[in-house]
Amino acid sequence: MKYSREDILKALSTVQDPDLKKDLVSLNMIKDIKISDKKLSFTVVLTTPACPLKEKIRKDCEDAVLKIIGNDELEIRMTSSVTTVRDNTPVLPGVKNIIAVASGKGGVGKSTVTSNLAVALAKAGAKVGIIDADIFGPSIPVMFNCEREQPEVKVKDGKNLIIPLEQYGVKLLSIGFLTPADSAIVWRGPMASSALKQFLSDAEWGDLDYLLIDLPPGTSDIHLTLVQTVPVTGAIIVTTPQKVALADAIKGLAMFRQPQINVPVLGVVENMAYFTPEELPENKYYIFGEGGGKNLAEKYDVPFLGQIPLVQSIRESGDSGLPAVLKEGATANAFTELAENLARQVAIRNAKFESTKRVKLQA
Ligand SMILES: Nc1ncnc2c1ncn2[C@@H]1O[C@H](COP(=O)(O)OP(=O)(O)OP(=O)(O)O)[C@@H](O)[C@H]1O
Ligand SMILES: [Mg+2]
Repeated sequence: MKYSREDILKALSTVQDPDLKKDLVSLNMIKDIKISDKKLSFTVVLTTPACPLKEKIRKDCEDAVLKIIGNDELEIRMTSSVTTVRDNTPVLPGVKNIIAVASGKGGVGKSTVTSNLAVALAKAGAKVGIIDADIFGPSIPVMFNCEREQPEVKVKDGKNLIIPLEQYGVKLLSIGFLTPADSAIVWRGPMASSALKQFLSDAEWGDLDYLLIDLPPGTSDIHLTLVQTVPVTGAIIVTTPQKVALADAIKGLAMFRQPQINVPVLGVVENMAYFTPEELPENKYYIFGEGGGKNLAEKYDVPFLGQIPLVQSIRESGDSGLPAVLKEGATANAFTELAENLARQVAIRNAKFESTKRVKLQA
């Protein structure tokens, strides 16, 4: 007897999403089941296009239905739709996930990590944007080779809207676009906060899966402005394995975890984890100490997203405005893996928790 749609759903309900630990049918990830004379086809909708488990999930689905369909042809389409738990908020209504990139100490590689993560996610097929909110040293314009460009402004319904620039498939706005590179404008706190608010509220971001916010080091007014203006999906903490950086990273982490702020920490990134000469990738020199980022993640019970080595080409890529993940090789792979881990943690977070609440602080 020919099998039914219900038979297929029953079989697929034995397949689990390894991250979300629930079956694909209850997760509503199976769509468009079509049964014809000699063929079964269906679509699996993953939680992110950067899903590293794509092939495993496909294989598990295949194994689950093969027994039932005998010699029929099988077609499994894999697509994705990035999840969100944001409610209908007036600010950034089309943006599914807002991710803060923070560190305690300066110079540990936030901007480098932000740019490569964004480009890696865009390469995987996600819609991605970056807001460079570092008033002290906006680096995104240089890292994306657009420091001489200026975003256009258009009028929509009587309101001025800033149009983000676009480079390597990533939409960008930076405080650096508002000031000439060689001028010495000193941003006072309130000016910087109002610039960030404008980027969030008065810019045409359209639909985005992930909007990354490159923050200044430490904890500042800018951090507060961010969590007061939008519900932040989660934060990632960048650190080097060095003791002084780790001590500061803990402060950054603690800030997001304060009860009145309560932004989930999506994970820790260990940058400059070890030095490796490009021509001898097997040689690893732990010049800032070994394992600090991972230990920190374990101690504070947050995911460890991965290690990025200290390599000359990462610095050169940043300076020349062509993010390292766009090249081939071990370094690019490290950033790609990092992006996949981040995308997984966003999906896990969205499955576990409700939307973050916007922070309402008394003045
Ligand atoms: N893994 C790496 N390998 C080599 N160079 C790196 C690496 N990560 C960052 N750098 C370089 O280190 C410098 C600081 O990095 P970056 O600007 O990303 O740090 P940051 O945390 O954003 O700094 P700030 O606190 O000033 O915003 C840059 O010149 C960058 O190119
Ligand atoms: Mg920076």
